[in-house]
Amino acid sequence: MIRLVTISENSVMPKGGLLGEHGLSIYIEWDGFKLLFDTGQGRSAAHNASALGLDLCGTPIALSHGHYDHTGGLASLLKMTGPVDVFGHPDIFAAKYRRDGSFIGIPWTREYLESAGAFFALSKDPRELAPGIWLSGEIPRLEACEEPLGELMARSDDGTIARDPFHDDQALILETSNGLLVVLGCAHSGLINTIEHARRITGEDRLYGVIGGTHLAMADEDRLERTFEALQSMRPTLLAPCHCTGPEASCTLRQRFKDQFVFNQAGLTLEI
Ligand SMILES: [Fe+2]
Ligand SMILES: [Fe+2]
Repeated sequence: MIRLVTISENSVMPKGGLLGEHGLSIYIEWDGFKLLFDTGQGRSAAHNASALGLDLCGTPIALSHGHYDHTGGLASLLKMTGPVDVFGHPDIFAAKYRRDGSFIGIPWTREYLESAGAFFALSKDPRELAPGIWLSGEIPRLEACEEPLGELMARSDDGTIARDPFHDDQALILETSNGLLVVLGCAHSGLINTIEHARRITGEDRLYGVIGGTHLAMADEDRLERTFEALQSMRPTLLAPCHCTGPEASCTLRQRFKDQFVFNQAGLTLEI
């Protein structure tokens, strides 16, 4: 059985004093392997993990990308995990900004996090972290409608601030017996691109489900429609979008997918 617990999300389920904040962190347990995917912004993930009774000691961490709302909780979670591997892309430490200049990258230095117990294992390539559990590596951009949206910036190698190419964006892919379960941070590479990449690296065509941030809150009508059509053609059993999906896209997904749709908040536990 695969167990997924959303421990940090923008909103919370009505139980046990959970905290909500803009961000995402999902705890995954499968055949004795445990993993934290993202860490939330910093105030909620460790608090909620304790409130939910999770034992994080020795649990490695994978980061979907460098944004603060997925990495800010690293320092407090490392106090619960102890020294562990932290998987991500080499660009997670790139300086990231909003268009107004506000900083939205990792709010800790690499040196500080290493002193707190992080062993960074950074790679651009797909990696099988445990049997059937993949970190995607860089996701090719093949879908014309999924260009990165223009409001998010990063410092490039030559020092200029330009549109963030999000080379660091990765998804977690679980090869379940019923098809792929794709776990997303923000899906800055695009939901369709991410699913197609997951299919390519695993050789599995069936999509069991999608959980996490889809970044559809910023998408225009064309992209929304193309995304909904692509998902419908794949007939997923489970859709548990959250975080940067936004209310509009979430409502449409609920209407179109009915019982396959799960409202994903901090405190949600899925057992598959
Ligand atoms: Fe995010
Ligand atoms: Fe993001």
